[in-house]
Amino acid sequence: MAKQEDLFKNVVSHAKEYGFIFPSSEIYDGLSAVYDYAQNGVELKKNIREYWWKAMVQMHDNIVGLDAAILMHPTTWKASGHVDAFNDPLIDNKDSKKRYRADVLIEDYAEKLQQKAQKEIDKARERFGDSFDEQQFITTNQRVVEYLAKKKIILERMAKSLDSGDLDDVKALIEELEIACPESGSRNWTDVKQFNLMFGTKLGASAENAMDLYLRPETAQGIFVNFLNVQKSGRMKIPFGIAQTGKAFRNEIVARQFIFRMREFEQMEMQFFVRPGEEMKWYEFWKDTRLKWHLSLGLGDKNYRFHDHEKLAHYANAAADIEFNFPFGFKELEGIHSRTDFDLKAHEQYSGKKLQYFDPETNSNYVPYVVETSVGLDRMFLAVFSNSLTEETLEDGSSRTVLRLPSVLAPTKATVLPLVKKDGLPELSQQIMDELKWDFKVSYDEKDAVGRRYRRQDALGTPFCITVDHQSLEDQTVTIRHRDTMKQDRVKISELRSIIDQEVSMRTWLLKTV
Ligand code: GAP
Repeated sequence: MAKQEDLFKNVVSHAKEYGFIFPSSEIYDGLSAVYDYAQNGVELKKNIREYWWKAMVQMHDNIVGLDAAILMHPTTWKASGHVDAFNDPLIDNKDSKKRYRADVLIEDYAEKLQQKAQKEIDKARERFGDSFDEQQFITTNQRVVEYLAKKKIILERMAKSLDSGDLDDVKALIEELEIACPESGSRNWTDVKQFNLMFGTKLGASAENAMDLYLRPETAQGIFVNFLNVQKSGRMKIPFGIAQTGKAFRNEIVARQFIFRMREFEQMEMQFFVRPGEEMKWYEFWKDTRLKWHLSLGLGDKNYRFHDHEKLAHYANAAADIEFNFPFGFKELEGIHSRTDFDLKAHEQYSGKKLQYFDPETNSNYVPYVVETSVGLDRMFLAVFSNSLTEETLEDGSSRTVLRLPSVLAPTKATVLPLVKKDGLPELSQQIMDELKWDFKVSYDEKDAVGRRYRRQDALGTPFCITVDHQSLEDQTVTIRHRDTMKQDRVKISELRSIIDQEVSMRTWLLKTV
């Protein structure tokens, strides 16, 4: 655990030192769970967004984009259920005065049982080698069976209590499991209370006439209220999707773990409108499609798992998370929900406007069902960044820090390094940059010895270093060094563009998603 904590601390400090993420308004000591993306972070974030957008919108001819406003008519949130039901159960520890989400305390306890079971499974796999039958072991090993059964009972009871609003039982469960405050170790808990997560604000200049608004807690509702506008103006035929990326705001009770749980964050969501009765087929399709998108980035297949929800949100008839193995364990990265016709029906009811589709194939009008995919852009950033940050010991015993980002997402694709700061090498380097910058984000560095410059680019995740030396002046060749293998090749300057393109182009990477 200590190792994991160290790794995570390292992620946070590396993000700051190398210009990826800063605490918001740091000169005023920061703002809890709000962060700013710095010069390299903003590029990485933009590239993740673009990789998602291309996969969802450009690669599907039945999905279109939208950019709805953050501020929406307040009735939107009444209709969506957020005013009444967008709550988290909170609990305070009386000794440490720390506030927690009661469900997260219980889920963390359940996750520890899962980890204990996994440890037994890993040990057995090592002992039995190729002959190991994992499925059989999980169903017959007494300890594993007990751990997993206990986990299931706990999560089912929590889901039932939360569903029925029995907060006393949620507290009773915390007490029965003897869950202690991670800060003080004390079990002196308050009662569990519900807390609405929406941020309120006002629209209008004078206090009397001001209208109470909310900052949107999800981007999805901007899609629902525009469903018919897009369908009609785009002459869309069901099934079709509307995709959107943008900011969302939640007054999270516990906002720890860096950019994992923020109060201001960005979502990448897609609502897929389908014929009623066909939603489960599309739900499975999107689970599969989204997992493939994640796997295409090469962060390790074992770092992903599905978690099917026991407790369904107020709008869903099926839901699963794609969980990622973050430095603090497996946690939700993306949610896939079958949202039924809940949202469109509710907006029909509250607005008095019909939100129906005439299906020429069935010759009938209906309110479509919706399958949603929703991934946090900041969480994607954390997954990619933390997984890529590696400390390596080299053959000569020295070590290097390398950010092995998927090259399609790297903030800078190549950096040009003149071997020395004279003899026309900076000028030739500049010419190379001027040529490459039409296609790629490139940088230039002439400070320090070339070895140190390589290390700096490794730590920034730059896939290629291009070194310009005296031979370059004579034969128009340069050395290109590959970040991950540190292999160096002598190549013609005229070949650089296609070498880099082959490695970093969206096309190369998107081909892995299908
Ligand atoms: N429209 C559905 C929806 O908003 P959600 O599970 O509440 O569902 C979807 O959120 C995704 O948004 C999550 O899987 C997560 O990646 C991201 N997310 C949610 N709350 C977040 C927060 N406070 N900070 C960062 N990302 C968050």
